[in-house]
Amino acid sequence: MTILVTGGAGYIGSHCVASLIRRGENVVVLDNLSRGHAAAVAGTRLYRGELADSAFLDTVFSREKIDAVIHFAAFSLVGESMTQPGTYFQNNVGGTLSLLEAMVRHNVSYIIFSSSAAVYGEPQSVPITEDMPLCPTNPYGESKRMVEAALKWFESAHALRYAALRYFNVAGAARGGNIGEHHEPETHLIPLVLKAAQQGKPIRVFGNDYPTPDGTCIRDYIHVEDLIDAHVLALSYLKNGGESGAFNLGLGYGFSVKEIIEAARSAVGLPILVEDAPRRAGDPAVLIASGDRAKRVLGWKPVHTELGDILTSAWIWHKTHPRGYTEN
Ligand code: UFG
Repeated sequence: MTILVTGGAGYIGSHCVASLIRRGENVVVLDNLSRGHAAAVAGTRLYRGELADSAFLDTVFSREKIDAVIHFAAFSLVGESMTQPGTYFQNNVGGTLSLLEAMVRHNVSYIIFSSSAAVYGEPQSVPITEDMPLCPTNPYGESKRMVEAALKWFESAHALRYAALRYFNVAGAARGGNIGEHHEPETHLIPLVLKAAQQGKPIRVFGNDYPTPDGTCIRDYIHVEDLIDAHVLALSYLKNGGESGAFNLGLGYGFSVKEIIEAARSAVGLPILVEDAPRRAGDPAVLIASGDRAKRVLGWKPVHTELGDILTSAWIWHKTHPRGYTEN
């Protein structure tokens, strides 16, 4: 099977590419390298260009006999989306519509879409199930919700089949691999905690007065390789006639910011300094997924269920790549 991976040079996309190659699939990567790293997909077939460029997409789809698309390419910084909503809607929604139109033109029927817990906004209760209301509180989450809505209409008009995978907090890195998390700028807790350990600088804890046992926010952290397994399963599910739909990807339990820092201290064996900081705008107190639907319908079985395992894999990457990818 030939699978087109958009955003394949990014953190999650590159783990998907590596996993598909290990499974013997023929992989084609499309990335504009605005935020991704060519080094993360060294040795794979990489087309560099824009999703909005229909002629470019036609070239890729005509040259390669694409059977399915796994679509990661998107901007994903919540804070940035608040100040640049137009950029987010244009890139995340506009880019995806252009991709969907190309799929229709080239008779490609299957897409796995990288959605987000951000589609739910501030949940009324946890764990969050897929049937709960979608009330995004920022343009990033709204862009994901809009694409999910578009997918439904492409299915009814063009028989396109999709799985929208709603990620909770993705972390960790491939074991023994040369790929890991490198964002510019980095905003995610786990890489920042590990950098704090490496550099002997404090990690800022955004808010210590949330209605949680230790006052800091709780999130459901999922290892990137478990997340990717769900993509592979979702694709086989669709190919075997499974119904299109949305699936949460999270472990069903969470850790507070303070618990993450404490666990990171043991995983890395170094002191980590902490600095209290004000709440970050838009952070819900608790986000925990119900991943039951993915387990039941897709047969998904996450294996990295220990927080220490996730942190250790991320630490190995950070230790061996203190400056991340260095080519750009
Ligand atoms: N945090 C800190 N200090 C930091 C960075 C983060 O205290 O330096 C806290 C945040 O306030 C939050 C928690 O750590 O409480 C996790 O923050 P991340 O930025 O790592 O992750 P988010 O939960 O904000 O974001 C995740 C995904 C987004 C997605 C969002 C949905 O990474 O892509 O969930 O709400 F949009």
